[in-house]
Amino acid sequence: MKSAFLEFIRSSEGFAREVAEQVPAPSAIIGSSLSRVDGPLKTTGTALYASDYNFPRMVYAEPVRSTIANGTIRSLDASVAEKMPGVLLVLHHGNIAPLFRVAKGGGEASESRPPFEDETISYWGQYVAVVIAETFQQAQAAAAAVRVTYDTAKPNVSTKLDDAIPAMGATCGPKVESRRGDAEAAFTAAAVQVDETYVTPVETHNPMEMHATVAVWDGQNFKLYESSQGVMNHLTVMAEILGVPKENVQVISRFIGSGFGGKLFPWPHSALAAAAARQLNRPVKLTLTRPMMFSNVGHRPRTQQRMRLGATAEGKLVSLQQDYRNHTSPTDDIEESCGEATPFLYSVANLQITSALVRRNVGTPTPMRGPGAVPGLFALESAMDELAIKLKQDPVALRLAHDTLIDEENKKPFSSRHLKECLETGATKFGWSRRTPEVGSMRKGDLILGWGVAAASWGAWRGGNEASVSLKRDGTVRVSSGTQDIGTGTYTVMAQIVADKTGVPVEKIEVVMGDSSLPPGAMSGGSTGTASIIPSLVDAVKSAVKVLLATAVQAKGSPYLHQNPATLTMTTGRIHAKDQSPESGVPFQDVLRMANLAAANGNGKSGGLGSDTKANDYSTHSFGAQFVEVEWDPGIAKLRVSRVVTVIDGGRIINKKTATNQIAGAVVMGVGMGLMEQTTYDPRNGHAVNDNFADYLVPTSADSPEIDVTFLDIPDPMMGEYGARGIGEIGLAGVAPAITAAVYHATGVRVRELPVRIEDLL
Ligand code: MOS
Repeated sequence: MKSAFLEFIRSSEGFAREVAEQVPAPSAIIGSSLSRVDGPLKTTGTALYASDYNFPRMVYAEPVRSTIANGTIRSLDASVAEKMPGVLLVLHHGNIAPLFRVAKGGGEASESRPPFEDETISYWGQYVAVVIAETFQQAQAAAAAVRVTYDTAKPNVSTKLDDAIPAMGATCGPKVESRRGDAEAAFTAAAVQVDETYVTPVETHNPMEMHATVAVWDGQNFKLYESSQGVMNHLTVMAEILGVPKENVQVISRFIGSGFGGKLFPWPHSALAAAAARQLNRPVKLTLTRPMMFSNVGHRPRTQQRMRLGATAEGKLVSLQQDYRNHTSPTDDIEESCGEATPFLYSVANLQITSALVRRNVGTPTPMRGPGAVPGLFALESAMDELAIKLKQDPVALRLAHDTLIDEENKKPFSSRHLKECLETGATKFGWSRRTPEVGSMRKGDLILGWGVAAASWGAWRGGNEASVSLKRDGTVRVSSGTQDIGTGTYTVMAQIVADKTGVPVEKIEVVMGDSSLPPGAMSGGSTGTASIIPSLVDAVKSAVKVLLATAVQAKGSPYLHQNPATLTMTTGRIHAKDQSPESGVPFQDVLRMANLAAANGNGKSGGLGSDTKANDYSTHSFGAQFVEVEWDPGIAKLRVSRVVTVIDGGRIINKKTATNQIAGAVVMGVGMGLMEQTTYDPRNGHAVNDNFADYLVPTSADSPEIDVTFLDIPDPMMGEYGARGIGEIGLAGVAPAITAAVYHATGVRVRELPVRIEDLL
């Protein structure tokens, strides 16, 4: 990196200027608060979710789940179940046609072990059989009649993750994730030290729509109706598991009632439904119940993180260490990358991050919204708050003093980092200057107020994507891509981009996705959807318009016959000369009619961020600041998050309304993480005892605070034409540590193990 450029980058003013030059100003449709284009379909019940599909001769599958968490199946007796009314088949290890593992590089499965591979049981609820019957009720009744006995070993679901870790280099670590300077020596020599351990519990993904598969087999091809955050990956994985060519599998996920990461990778029920459909030659529907969501489709693993921070007496951070571990399943090594944000969030010369895994008898963990960074930031931001208190410094000021425009991990400048503005804007909006730092010093009537703050960060990436655009002779536009909308607003954002590029109103733009037979699209994960789709979509529009302009200079009767197409353009849905107004031109559909064409089509294809050599010179992340107020009523021991101000640096915002929904929803999820959510396993048998909404608490409307969402809306020059980064996950980052900081401010109790419980405060 040239040093003159680094100097330039260090001045954020100069950087803002450079950004403004690189990213063109958008039209009014970009950044507008357009309501979801698919909203009416959803609110009228017209949108079909996976389990809404029904077919002639369709039958129902109900899994039988293990009642132990560790051991082997000794016997499985399906004879009673098989004779029950309507029962067609009971599949298990002994009679299922082979299901295969997914080869390395062949797509991302959730559990590496295909269902029924052997008779080993490694977690409670593991599928041991599946009953297929004419009706759902018959399948359920028969599933309860399958008799299974086990050779049982003692399960390990211990919440203390203090296990002895194997030698360096073994599968489970310990592993050095990041290192610079001499963190140990700098910590030992530091005048002010924080050395604390932070714990986050198992959390279960609870999207409104539960997982389901409707599998249709026609003798050669599978059609799988799924609730999937990645239809293309789902196809690849299922083709491998089922042992059929990829072209014989189609995956459909038109509408999804969210996923939060739990639907990124296929789970075993999908293969079971498909296998049953093939064996019976009938369509099979398999729906998960809410309790099954707690054992069979992943979770955010438990984490334990020791943080050591060393600072000078004046408050300069000189050493930062994070040693984290998370639990994983007996069958898979899943790391919760708690050190995701630690190496670059603050300027510090000496740093070391290590990780390790410990095995528990639980199902395989999977990403949950902001995987790694979100539990990681609970530890880092809690420790920063504790350091600020030890230093008698304001926690906002301490963070501002350690802001950096260079990623000290890889020495690259950030493509666009405005954490400082997030903290400053948030402090102003929240009224932070009125905060008195003494514990319990702020009152509102009989209530004690606590104010806390934390920074947020989440990576910014984009993946490869393909899209097609069809400008049609009826004046409408069809745009398609094999990606999906998990409820975040992707349909709407795609329509907005096409509207911006063509001038055709959004009502005339049909967006088609959620089908693996469309041009291969990106996963909806890692907050990458919007940024991944845009470049290929813009390319597709451009190539379709090019076809149209070429047609305009050739079609008989065209006012532009024999002209140079390079002098023409398309705006407001009309073809016109670049140097004349759109009104002087002709509607695009008229050009198609003149040439007797049904449509002008274009395809677009874009690589991911990794293939962008310019972007690779930068560190790309989103940032944010969370300001939280809690009300503590000591008289009745009631704690409530009353107010949250969140300021997000997420690049350019394409749709203000859907983006605000994303962040507000994430803040509510943060309240759940801070005060409520925790999956608890029975130590005797590994059963998630609170596998229902009576016992696993998530925030209701009444638990939700007043939320003020602000976007800085500064485009990121490395994220494609509009400079939009993802915003699905950043809103959750930092909420929980801001809550516990506020709780400390109100009560003087530092909660280092989530969720905060009332009994912690008594
Ligand atoms: Mo997100 S955890 O990548 O769906």
